Amino acid sequence: MSFVCNHLAIIMDGNGRWAKKKGLPRSAGHQAGTEAAKRIVTACRKMGMQYVTLYAFSRENWSRPREEINFLFDLLVRFLSQELNMLVEQSIRLNILGNWEEMPFAVRQAIKHACAKSRAGKEMVLNMALNYSGREEILQACRNLLKQDLDPADLNEQVFRDQLFTAGQADPDLIIRTSGELRLSNYLIFQSAYSELYFTPTLWPDFDEEELHLALEDFKKRERRFGRVERIE
Ligand code: IPE
Ligand code: IPE
Ligand code: MG
Repeated sequence: MSFVCNHLAIIMDGNGRWAKKKGLPRSAGHQAGTEAAKRIVTACRKMGMQYVTLYAFSRENWSRPREEINFLFDLLVRFLSQELNMLVEQSIRLNILGNWEEMPFAVRQAIKHACAKSRAGKEMVLNMALNYSGREEILQACRNLLKQDLDPADLNEQVFRDQLFTAGQADPDLIIRTSGELRLSNYLIFQSAYSELYFTPTLWPDFDEEELHLALEDFKKRERRFGRVERIE
């Protein structure tokens, strides 16, 4: 099989601009974005992807208007309760990246419930990045290791990786960002070292299976060298 994207990570961006273009409130963009997320999760599962990682709420997103944050959290709670059966039926395990314990009670409850109910899922892991910051993830790993009184000589990449939210997982093969922005916005800072990056001007609510295939076709054409030189001519 030539298909080698086992881990797809997505920065689901452009919900607000999608709504603005249509003369709708930003909340309508987030609502439509949820539909896109469902489509893409299902499509990835069908393709046999092992990990799908969605950036749903960054730590920096706390600086948005309170009203928008509340809407996003309500939407998340609804998404988790409405889609839980789908996750279980499709054998998808939900896993959270980020400090979700700092989120409001209702969100924490929904997360705990959905993670517990889907924990037997064996076919795919759906990572949702919530209250996530790549730099904070790295700092937290350092704090944990310092607490363990680790001998500096024993600190290697594997030991460090075990402290990340993605412990035990393969790094993202491909990171897609929608909406035309060309940055990572503090996403998977450690894990993205050798990820392929794909940027599309399409706004997240318009991202569909066809767009996903375009991205994966593009990915398949990439030559991933990881610093190697294959042959000397
Ligand atoms: C992405 O869409 C969703 C979240 C960050 C939660 P945005 O809300 O960032 O939409 P734009 O970038 O303002 O269009
Ligand atoms: C990144 O999008 C975060 C999520 C998609 C959840 P933002 O819209 O918050 O990123 P910036 O502000 O454009 O960098
Ligand atoms: Mg944005």
